[in-house]
This record gives sequence, structure tokens and C-alpha cells, in this order.
Amino acid sequence: MSDPSAAPSTRRGFLGALTVLLGGAIAALASVPVLGSLFSPLRAPSRPEAEDAPIPVGSVSEFTVGVPRRVELIRSVTDAWSRSDATTVGAAWVTRNADGTFIALSTICPHLGCGVNLDKQRNTFACPCHTSAFSLAGSREAGPAPRGMDPLKVEVRGEQVLIHYKRFKQGIPEREVV
Ligand code: FES
Repeated sequence: MSDPSAAPSTRRGFLGALTVLLGGAIAALASVPVLGSLFSPLRAPSRPEAEDAPIPVGSVSEFTVGVPRRVELIRSVTDAWSRSDATTVGAAWVTRNADGTFIALSTICPHLGCGVNLDKQRNTFACPCHTSAFSLAGSREAGPAPRGMDPLKVEVRGEQVLIHYKRFKQGIPEREVV
């Protein structure tokens, strides 16, 4: 003799399993765009050209011939998940030469990384931390710095002065980009 409650029980089991399956499928479908947006920065191509892009620091006429001027190097910074505008990434001493060319030197002392200042009285650059001194062209004149100040490439586009910024390792005689 068959059990009359077996059929409804089987049907309930089947419907329950179907509900779980459908729920799982819907959840999986719904998560695709969310997961896609979470992981899309990892799939996005890196943009080294943006990091290497020269940074505008002013017009030619803003620089007086022979007088170093400190400029902040500001750019938008983009990583995998965020973009921040107007971030100061460094600074440079920029000097306009009489022949129209420019010299740019990183303000980071090659000894241990303090900020190098302009010593107007002595007409040199001077580091306040361990008294390293440099000529206005950046060569080392005194102190424990293992090399001269680090030069940065300058580009002039029309009236605009731009700097290709790089950071260098400190404390070593060779100039190595970080
Ligand atoms: S950090 Fe500049 S001399 Fe030491």
C-alpha cells in the first residue's frame, strides 16, 4: 500500500530545489556587473604615458634669466581604483639660461632626501640637513651628498615650460631612477 503523503512531499522537495537553483542563478547573474566593476581596473591597460607626461610649470616669461625659481610639480594621479586631481608629486629648481635653454634640478637632496634650498647670499644650493652644497648647475661642492643634484628633462613648447619628473635613489653615487 502506497503512502499518500509521499507525492506532496516529493513535490515540495522538487519545488524547494528549484527555488534554490533559480535563486542561485539570479544571484550569479546579478553579481556579474558588480564583479566586473570591481575587477575592471585590474584588466584596464596601464597608462605609463600619463605618468611620464611632462608637467607644465609656467610660461617662459615667468622665469628670469639666471635666477633659479622653485616650482611645484603637480599632476593628477591615477591608480587602479582611484584618480586624484592636482597632486603635488615633487618640486624642482628651474633656471632659465641666457641662450633660452632651461636647467631643472630635483629639489630632493641626493644624500638622504631633504629639500634643497637656494642660498642667495652664496649663490649656491644648500641642503639644511647635513650641509651639502651644490653649484647653481647642480654639481656637488661640499658635504656628504654622494653626487650632484639630479637633473630633470625640460621641454619648451611654444611659451610653455614643461618638466619630465623622475625620482632617483638617494645615498648612492650613481643616478638611478626609483
Ligand atoms: S640630506 Fe642633504 S646633506 Fe644629508
